[in-house]
Amino acid sequence: MVTPDLSVSLGGLRVKNPVLSASGTFGYGIEFAPFYDISRLGAVVMKGLSLAPTPGNPPGRIVETAAGMLNAIGLQNIGVERFIGDVVPRLEDAGATFVANIYGKTVEEYEAVARRLSEVLSLGAIEVNASCPNVREGGMAFGATPEGIARLTGRVRLCTAKPLWVKLSPNVTDIAGIAKAAEGSGADAVSLINTIVGMAVDHRTRRPELSNVTGGLSGPAIKPVALRMVWEAAKAVRIPVIGIGGIQSGADALEFFLVGASAVQVGTANFRNPRACIDILEGIEAFFREERIARLEEYRGGLKEEKTP
Ligand SMILES: Cc1cc2nc3c(=O)[nH]c(=O)nc-3n(C[C@H](O)[C@H](O)[C@H](O)COP(=O)(O)O)c2cc1C
Repeated sequence: MVTPDLSVSLGGLRVKNPVLSASGTFGYGIEFAPFYDISRLGAVVMKGLSLAPTPGNPPGRIVETAAGMLNAIGLQNIGVERFIGDVVPRLEDAGATFVANIYGKTVEEYEAVARRLSEVLSLGAIEVNASCPNVREGGMAFGATPEGIARLTGRVRLCTAKPLWVKLSPNVTDIAGIAKAAEGSGADAVSLINTIVGMAVDHRTRRPELSNVTGGLSGPAIKPVALRMVWEAAKAVRIPVIGIGGIQSGADALEFFLVGASAVQVGTANFRNPRACIDILEGIEAFFREERIARLEEYRGGLKEEKTP
């Protein structure tokens, strides 16, 4: 039987398949090496990196909700220098394609992180997190308006020749306008969505469950919102759209391809099933074989928009 060609170009980065891990849910990739060969993934997207190591928010930082989870990790990370010194060689040894997700408190910090990471030859792409809801300056300040996204994207663009992906926030009213602003300022791809701002409270203690009070909702609960936003963004831009939000199965990923996503990132599903990304990849392959679809591009964007009879 013919193996379907799932390779796809993501704004200058050619990946062998469209299943990527989502930032913050897959550590620095090497933590998952005991479960499977991480080089099987299209790419591994790193936990968000800042210039200096960051401890993140105090606990509680995670709450399980009815159809997903809330997190307020606060962008805890080891900082860009330790990432380059300790983690990059191990990712190279593992043969993984890897993408750095970056954030800064100021535009200058984003620029500095991007500049430093650009020196890493094996790095596949830089994903700018313009959308973290859990720290005051976690990017959402930049990601909330077309002007903010344009300014941040344009400034980081000047600092790197690496493929530049911009990760968008769903906490906006006009996602198409924001995606277009990223494209217009030099983004090679857009990734969406990040988490949706939510909160959880304990009715007995009468307190919020997260130390930060609010957090980011992820998982199956957000999939319909993500699907709608990816559909709107994909119609608005020519650059690849990477779909994220509640993807747990091959079928979920296929829905994102139908509305125009070129690839998907898998987040919360990794916490429930460490092999989630591989199961999703195999689900896509099995469906394409069954339907005799030879290439991802034959299927992508094929949503029939007329209503079901
Ligand atoms: C615990 C946790 C940490 C996250 N950290 C980051 C991060 O550092 N940078 C980022 O861009 N997104 C981060 N995200 C957002 C995810 O990458 C993803 O966009 C979101 O969870 C939606 O996908 P999902 O429903 O498949 O989890 C984080 C999500 C979770 C659950």
